[in-house]
Amino acid sequence: MKRIKIAQLLKTTPSEQEVTVMGWVRTFRNNQFISLNDGSTIHNLQAVVALNALSDETLKRITTGACLSITGKLIPSPAKGQAVEVKVDALEILGDCDAEVYPLQPKKHSLEFLREIAHLRGRTNTMSAVMRVRHAMAFAVHKFFNDRGFYYIHTPIITGSDAEGAGDMFRVTSLSVDKPERNEDGKVDFSKDFFGRETNLTVSGQLEGETYALALSEIYTFGPTFRAENSNTTRHLAEFWMIEPEMAFYDLSDNMQLAQDFLQFLCRYALENCQDDLEFLSKRALDEEAAKPADQRSELNLIERLRFVTENDFQKLSYTEAIEILRNSNPNKKKKFQYLIDQWGTDLQSEHERYLVEKHFKKPVILYNYPAAIKSFYMRQNEDGKTVAAMDVLFPGIGEIIGGSQREERYDRLMRRVEELAMPQKDLWWYLELRKFGSAPHSGFGLGFERLIQFVTGMGNIRDVIPFPRYPGNAEF
Ligand code: 4AD
Ligand code: MG
Repeated sequence: MKRIKIAQLLKTTPSEQEVTVMGWVRTFRNNQFISLNDGSTIHNLQAVVALNALSDETLKRITTGACLSITGKLIPSPAKGQAVEVKVDALEILGDCDAEVYPLQPKKHSLEFLREIAHLRGRTNTMSAVMRVRHAMAFAVHKFFNDRGFYYIHTPIITGSDAEGAGDMFRVTSLSVDKPERNEDGKVDFSKDFFGRETNLTVSGQLEGETYALALSEIYTFGPTFRAENSNTTRHLAEFWMIEPEMAFYDLSDNMQLAQDFLQFLCRYALENCQDDLEFLSKRALDEEAAKPADQRSELNLIERLRFVTENDFQKLSYTEAIEILRNSNPNKKKKFQYLIDQWGTDLQSEHERYLVEKHFKKPVILYNYPAAIKSFYMRQNEDGKTVAAMDVLFPGIGEIIGGSQREERYDRLMRRVEELAMPQKDLWWYLELRKFGSAPHSGFGLGFERLIQFVTGMGNIRDVIPFPRYPGNAEF
């Protein structure tokens, strides 16, 4: 008999039809009521075993975590909270699970503990809800761009360039760790390496993405990116996924509009397609918040926060205006910020971003026109000689969720910046050449996928919105 997924079964009108379901036992009560979950929905199916229908031997093997195949009749459920249940006719144990040693007991486990058993945590309500939402968001990303005629470009994972002009990359090499080939002056000879040069894992697909924007007009990448920075925060991973659209003929304000439309679309998609999971996650977040001091709780619950994003324009604000607001803010005057804002030009920390979003404007903020000195070399230089056409989108509870800019399309200006920063031109020749052969104004941005998932699920730690998080000191699994 063909298996039916529980999500589908729970929506089926019961008429004593025979059905087969397969899944993992969440609980087994009174030797009678099996709560079964197959991951297709947050809801469990109740399967009822008639007294004396199964041998004692079989009953003993129906333990939390065991995998079962159940065939029986779908009937209306007399119990509260569920429309249907299955009256068991036949039950097969597909995989035993020794309750004595199974780490996932039917009780609340801490997220920290669940990270240590990441191979099993997908079977919890919280993680399975997060992963279903994550899937829906990935799908929505492609839908948004496909509907607008953007092309999905696969940029390389192994790269010979360092997009952000920063360090913090993971080296890719096939040279021997103990005895790498060396040249005469004793340095490692990367010309003997697999690619005949130094290579790294990419930190961003942007630079390669730009080449295709200047060919197909509107493109996006969506892939894994890697950063070897030693950031042990709730918002940083060493391996994360990034969505990077890049558009020819867009200026900074077109770019900001696209970023707003994109984020609003994603939040709306979640509200419309992930209701059950969001309701569960919203309750979960409320329980978690109840443990916090009153002034740290958010005023809106998860679903209200998502609606709020879809219904309000984002606040646009120049860096210079932001500095003025921050300089005169209470936490700055009372020295409550860890990093005090005293002069124009300082980089903003997440405490400042969150103040602007959560306390001052109480809505998402797009900061633009940052000082050139704190932003990347490729950002378009403004006429004031000090700022570049950069933008960051700041979200409540998250801080920076998107970073982007209009790109410097003028060869001379870009070249001057590359020289000022003493960047390795031999790696960037193709990027520079793009400005010589039919250059065009263009813009783009990067959305951190896991930060988006944090916002949409209300999860506090980025390590809990990706199946197997990579962070300093951890690459288990
Ligand atoms: O601001 P970032 O570094 O920008 C870029 O990489 C540009 N090349 C993007 C572009 O213009 N095409 O990163 C973009 C976003 C951040 O806003 C943040 O959401 C996320 O990526 N991000 C991280 N997410 C998780 N862990 C990390 N270590 C992250 N670093 C950045
Ligand atoms: Mg950034």
